Amino acid sequence: MGDLGGKMIVVSNAEPYKHESKGDGETVCHEVEGGLTTAMNPQMRETGGVWIAYGRGNSDFEVVNSEGEVSVPDFPDVPKEKRYTLKRLDFPPERYEKFYRGYANRVLWPIFHSFPTKADLQLEGEFWSEGYLPCNKEYSRSVIDVYEPGDTVWVHDYHLALVPKLVKNEIPDARIGVFWHIPWPPWENFGKIPHRKRLLEGLAAADLIGLHLDKYADNLLRCAEKCGATFDLGSKSFKLGKEEAQVKAYPLGVDFEFFNGTETNGKELDIREKYRDKKLVLGVDRQDYTKGIPERIRAFKKFLRKYPGYREKIAMVQRTPTSRTGITEYDREKSEINRGVSEFNGNFGNHDWTPINLFWKGIPQRKLIAEYRAADVGLVTPGLDGMNLVSKEFIAANQKPKVLILSEFAGSAEQLDGAIHVNPYDSDQVARAIKQAIEMPEAEKEERWKGLRKQVKTEDLSSWSEKFLSDLEKAHRLGSTAEFTLFEDEPEEKQVIRRN
Ligand code: UDP
Ligand code: G6P
Repeated sequence: MGDLGGKMIVVSNAEPYKHESKGDGETVCHEVEGGLTTAMNPQMRETGGVWIAYGRGNSDFEVVNSEGEVSVPDFPDVPKEKRYTLKRLDFPPERYEKFYRGYANRVLWPIFHSFPTKADLQLEGEFWSEGYLPCNKEYSRSVIDVYEPGDTVWVHDYHLALVPKLVKNEIPDARIGVFWHIPWPPWENFGKIPHRKRLLEGLAAADLIGLHLDKYADNLLRCAEKCGATFDLGSKSFKLGKEEAQVKAYPLGVDFEFFNGTETNGKELDIREKYRDKKLVLGVDRQDYTKGIPERIRAFKKFLRKYPGYREKIAMVQRTPTSRTGITEYDREKSEINRGVSEFNGNFGNHDWTPINLFWKGIPQRKLIAEYRAADVGLVTPGLDGMNLVSKEFIAANQKPKVLILSEFAGSAEQLDGAIHVNPYDSDQVARAIKQAIEMPEAEKEERWKGLRKQVKTEDLSSWSEKFLSDLEKAHRLGSTAEFTLFEDEPEEKQVIRRN
């Protein structure tokens, strides 16, 4: 993960592993699904360091020491040198509710994914002062507690926009990078957030802010300008008050060798056996309204209506780990998907054929690889997705040519030219794409697949982190000597001067 000296301190809300009690007194360690944890976990296992995150497992605090720390992953087959320290934070439930289900996921997530009507802006002020700000302060306090001179602080995602500033207030010369895993929307959406300027002030204290795509970086810079920043599209930086941050695109990749080379002991053949000679179309998405699952089901239905010759000759597997329960928009969507699938199977299926096979349970990536390999077609059709790692993992896992149908609104679509690109809201187009995928001549399939694999292999996870960390070091060295401005409503905190 580059060599900047000192240790790596990763800070994110999601933890990479959770500990759950099985009910018989035994506690089991599980991977937590999501693009962020997928990205950072392999690297932390290589280099070690400290990862600070909220403890979400029901037995998380039974396995930690007095500092809230545990060495992970504590799987028996993982040697000590491949483990790192996970420092878990806990918050009073009401505060965490306003922070996580409130500000992060009922304000920032919908606004940043351009679903403003799903945002709860009436409660934004309360979520901010009783959730987002106090939790960001606690995260920052933990970073400051473990920090030693020379360390690198790598802050992840929309939950923690204030951490760079809060940390730099106390450690002026800290090297701080941010990676923003979701899109950055245009001003018309971002500008709706009452605390918009405060969010940008928090981020501006970072040396470098990375996003997946140039267009997200440009959106951020233009939003900063609207909030009073001076910005430079050429050198990709903005200055807000006395803070200046570099902003650049780093499209996240996957650990190609892991997905390409992991042995599954023929598990994909067992899966195929269940579907016999049917073509298998696979969808894998955390359950989220941004992933376009109801639209995908409608498109698959349209496909079977338009092309009835394919009935009983095709099946869809939709793996959708439940996520963010307790948020109305998520719970409502889950019911909609359940209804859609059961109506669909009831209308089209029979004793020998279940058209859509829906699984709400998440599985570890080693098992997911077998599903990727069992499938003929990957169907990845989010309404909007910052990057979408599943599309890249499907490619990396399959040495044999397959076909990927990909939403033009997935960040990965900018890199994955060899996929069939679709508008996920155009069900006729998606239905035609499924037909095209199944009927694609072998030569065309091979040609497209070769290009896709080359792309995913070249721009993989380690090249992503190397580029980011090397630019972070440069940006840090260039750091200004400006004075820090503090949040206006926290006058008790004293001003400090940045010394680099
Ligand atoms: N994933 C998993 N098990 C599952 C489903 C998904 O481990 O049952 C992982 C998947 O391998 C991928 C991540 O969850 O790395 C999802 O990342 P993506 O960028 O596609 O979407 P996100 O959930 O971050 O929005
Ligand atoms: C996306 C977000 C991550 C988040 C993950 C899982 O990938 O960018 O920040 O951790 O979804 O969501 P959750 O709410 O379970 O952490």
